[in-house]
Formats: sequence, structure tokens, C-alpha cells
Amino acid sequence: MEEVSLETVGRASLCKASPSCVVAVVPVGSELCMKSPESITIIETGSKGCGIVATKHIRKGETIFRFSGELVPRRKLKNPNTALQLDEDLFLESYGTIDENLNHSCNPNCHVDFRQLTLVALKDIQRGEELTFDYNTSEYDLMDQGCFFTCLCGSQDCIGDVRGFKYLPADHKKKTEPFLLPFLKRKWRKVL
Ligand SMILES: C[S@@+](CC[C@H](N)C(=O)[O-])C[C@H]1O[C@@H](n2cnc3c(N)ncnc32)[C@H](O)[C@@H]1O
Ligand SMILES: [Zn+2]
Repeated sequence: MEEVSLETVGRASLCKASPSCVVAVVPVGSELCMKSPESITIIETGSKGCGIVATKHIRKGETIFRFSGELVPRRKLKNPNTALQLDEDLFLESYGTIDENLNHSCNPNCHVDFRQLTLVALKDIQRGEELTFDYNTSEYDLMDQGCFFTCLCGSQDCIGDVRGFKYLPADHKKKTEPFLLPFLKRKWRKVL
């Protein structure tokens, strides 16, 4: 699998939907580019702040949206809470697009396809269900960025504090492997 880096993303065609968006390998105007797809909407969850819910049935394996934003190194992050880690020192910082409302769950119904930079359904998702992914599959160290939090996902296997991949027990790291950011996969394999 080709890994995402400044170089590979830089070769992708630029998105003209927003001056700050540098990630869009799909043609501008396609349903995955920038616009909020009609299958989702933003809601106020209460305890977790805003979140994204399905407005209609989403099938397992369906691509829901493409992440967008600006590629920046850690030192240039304006708000680490709205950034998706893509490599050791490369983050996709979102500015006002729907992806910044995506919450974490320890038992998620979506995962990130790091090659396409898209959110993909892991299972069938019913209308009204909140969309989530496991932040520990992309973020190495949320403690370092000061954005760790206590998880309110409510799932039976909730890990409690979400602090990043670095802090997961070995058996949990193994479980996340199929959905991991390539950088995290490499890092983990090195220590095995
Ligand atoms: C990318 S934002 C997601 C949108 C956020 N809920 C909001 O209203 O802006 C990430 C932040 O949402 C909150 N969050 C996400 N998932 C959560 C969860 N499972 N439990 C508690 N807070 C969560 C945390 O504060 C986290 O730093
Ligand atoms: Zn949880």
C-alpha cells in the first residue's frame, strides 16, 4: 500500500472547493469532495459535543466522505483537536468541514482508509446512528498534543482514557492492526 506523505499527497490534484484544501484525489465536484454527503449530518450529542449521524442507511464498506484540510507539521497545528495524524510529523488539519465533528468510539462503526483519506463504514449503519472511528488507529500520542480525553462511547469494551496508540496494551494494538495508519503499523512492527 502506498503511504501518505507530503510528497504523495502533493502529487494529488488540488481541490478547488476551498483555498486551504490540499487533499482531493477525486475530481472537484464529485460527491466525495468537500461537500457534506447527503447520508450524514451534524448533531449535538450532549456529553461529547458535536457528532455525525447517518441520515439514511449506510452499507458496510461504503465510502462516506473524504477528509480534507491542510497538511501541516505538528508545530504548525492551530487546533490539534481537529487534526488527523497521517505520519510522524504530518497532520491533516480540518477547517470547518464535516470531518472535524467525527467522534471516537472504542467499538467504532467506521475506519479511515489512509490511502484514499476517506471514512469507510465497517458495518451496516442505521439511520440516526452516530458515525465513529477509533482515534487510536491514527493518533500516536494525544498526551503529547494535550488532547487526550475520557471516552464516553459507552461501549462494553471502552478503554476509558483515549491517549493515543502509544499507550494501548499490546493485545489491543494487535486488534487495531488492520485499520492502522501505516506509520503506526511500522512503528509497532519495529518493537515486536
Ligand atoms: C475532532 S473533535 C470531534 C467533535 C467534537 N465532539 C466537537 O464537538 O467539536 C474531537 C474531540 O471530541 C471529543 N470526543 C470525541 N470522541 C469522544 C468520546 N468518545 N468521548 C468523549 N469525548 C469525545 C473530545 O473532546 C475530542 O478531543
Ligand atoms: Zn470508549
